[in-house]
Amino acid sequence: MLRDEVLALLKAQGGAPLSGEAMSQRLGVSRAAVWKAMEGLRQEGYVISSAPRRGYALEDSPDLLSPGELMDSGRKIGSNLVCLDTVDSTNNEVKRRAVDQVPEGLVVVSAQQTGGRGRRGRSFVSPPGGLYLSALLKPDCPLEQVSALTAWSAVAVCDAVEQVCGLRPGIKWPNDVILDGRKLCGILTELELEGETAALRYVVAGIGVNLSQSEADFGPEVAPVAISLAQALGKAPRRAEMAAALLDALDKLDRDFPGQWDSWLERYRADCITVGRQIKVLRGQEERIGTAVGVDHTFALVVRWADGSEEALSSGEVSVRGLLGYV
Ligand code: BTN
Repeated sequence: MLRDEVLALLKAQGGAPLSGEAMSQRLGVSRAAVWKAMEGLRQEGYVISSAPRRGYALEDSPDLLSPGELMDSGRKIGSNLVCLDTVDSTNNEVKRRAVDQVPEGLVVVSAQQTGGRGRRGRSFVSPPGGLYLSALLKPDCPLEQVSALTAWSAVAVCDAVEQVCGLRPGIKWPNDVILDGRKLCGILTELELEGETAALRYVVAGIGVNLSQSEADFGPEVAPVAISLAQALGKAPRRAEMAAALLDALDKLDRDFPGQWDSWLERYRADCITVGRQIKVLRGQEERIGTAVGVDHTFALVVRWADGSEEALSSGEVSVRGLLGYV
């Protein structure tokens, strides 16, 4: 849509003016079409100044999610962008669109979800005020390395939050993003394998970040264990700003995976707040208490049991004392 392309040009100027003539030449459309797109943007709430000979400049933006807000030709992740007001689940939407030839980089963003999904078949409460984003990835690596993407995604989210808000959250193993002991972001990575060969077809990395929700938005069950950036900082960033930062971070992840394994492992270890704490591990009906003592080279959590033995957990339900309601 021309409006998105005009907005992308204005944003790339960083507030500096750009003439209607330059825009019409770059986009290969008439000046009248540029003017019409500009009027459309103003009606959506964008504040765009215009001065003779200098051109148009973007002064202020509303809190909108649109391809024009997120387009960046330098990124592979987000090169194909779908922005929705509502959807059942952004992960589902990516999967519906991930038919054979769709290249890596498809991203679906939504302002809310009606059937948000969490790990272990749980639902993920996804009211307006959050940001729900899923990306289609096609990593070129052995299957046994792919599960690390879930941990890498958590580091990418911490990078994005730090870029936008200037503070770095922690990670509860394997990939809950935590602020003030409560959950700021949930991540669900899903793999699609070839039926006959079990080769990896694609990965969907789904991220739900709490931006401006209040206690009432979360509801009584979730509110005690969730936190939004507005609750933590008194102010939420624009959704598009956070979405763009997530796309930057996922694009870096995509370029680095799996080649830069050691540096992401080091960053994961620095962010992981599970290590050094008492944990409760739930396996089937069995519940066992131990201490998390490290993260090994495969991103598995190393736990020391009361008898002194150690075990590396690569999956499982882990509660961490002091976080998310485990006292
Ligand atoms: C969890 O905490 O259990 C994982 C939650 C993952 C939620 C995100 S929101 C975007 C994407 N779409 C979904 O349905 N789930 C993921």
